Amino acid sequence: MIVTTAQLFKHAYGKYAIGAYNINNAEQTMGLFKGAIASQAPFIIQISKGARKYTDKRMLEAIIRAASVIFPEAIFAVHLDHGDEETCYECINSGFFSSVMIDASHDPFDENVAITKRVVTAAHAKGISVEAELGMLGGVEEDIKVEEGNACLTDPVEAADFVKKTGCDSLACAIGTSHGAFKFKGKQSLHFDVLDKIKAILPGFPLVMHGSSSVPQDEVARINAAGGKIAGSMGVDVNEYLPAATRGVTKVNIDTDGRLVWTRVHREYFRDHPGEFDFRPPGKIFIEEYAKFIASRNVLLGSAGQLSDLRASLGK
Ligand code: G3H
Ligand code: 13P
Ligand code: ZN
Repeated sequence: MIVTTAQLFKHAYGKYAIGAYNINNAEQTMGLFKGAIASQAPFIIQISKGARKYTDKRMLEAIIRAASVIFPEAIFAVHLDHGDEETCYECINSGFFSSVMIDASHDPFDENVAITKRVVTAAHAKGISVEAELGMLGGVEEDIKVEEGNACLTDPVEAADFVKKTGCDSLACAIGTSHGAFKFKGKQSLHFDVLDKIKAILPGFPLVMHGSSSVPQDEVARINAAGGKIAGSMGVDVNEYLPAATRGVTKVNIDTDGRLVWTRVHREYFRDHPGEFDFRPPGKIFIEEYAKFIASRNVLLGSAGQLSDLRASLGK
């Protein structure tokens, strides 16, 4: 069942966070649904602009629709990740997305407000939720690379003003994470002080944490042992997910970790089976491994086991 992110956040706020996982193909989609059902967790499927272009946006839509028939128990939102204004309107009008993110965080404050407000008006007219972003994460997102020095944390007072002016349903805040596999040099550190201030000024308002992959070091070691070269990578400490949730973070974005599972499975498979050229055997292993990964993350986020209570609260 497809629901809005606002419906999911209402149930989760202050107690647990919903995992928001990026998908690009059928194997990721199968693994995601399998893992979510195994852990009895609601979830958010995120589709980036790059993912929509990878095969064809209609292909992804059809894959997700098929998955919801194969797994009728699943409760999830379909969300545009890091959209620009034009892509937001496309998704709002598609009749398929239940949530969009307008990311005008690279624009000046007033411009970000104006763009976000236009998207909110269009989305709310169709019952669709809107996530906006204030502050700037480091790392690469879509085709924009933000150098560490230019990344800036969300200002709590500005955040309250922004939410009031735009009417957005949730806000992505920069609290020290960044996209990709190289998030921290030296110590892992999230700015919970910033979250506390935002929560104090915006009580009950759903916050979003981007760049939340944990970049598991055992996964990285296996990838490197099988020919990879991703030394020095570091992610968010998974023990920070629940403390973030109690501070108002209702959505935790995880993409890179799924790519690492894919890379590990395929590197090891072809290393161990040099004569193999059928993509289905490693594809099957990936689906199972990704499902296990999703279930493990849902446990850490506190969303595992919430499905039946959520269903009851939705009156379904
Ligand atoms: O924030 C970016 C997400 O990880 C999506 O990545 O644009 O390469 O699909 P992508
Ligand atoms: P990661 O790169 O940490 O997986 O973050 C993904 C993300 O924020 C997608 O919007
Ligand atoms: Zn992001």
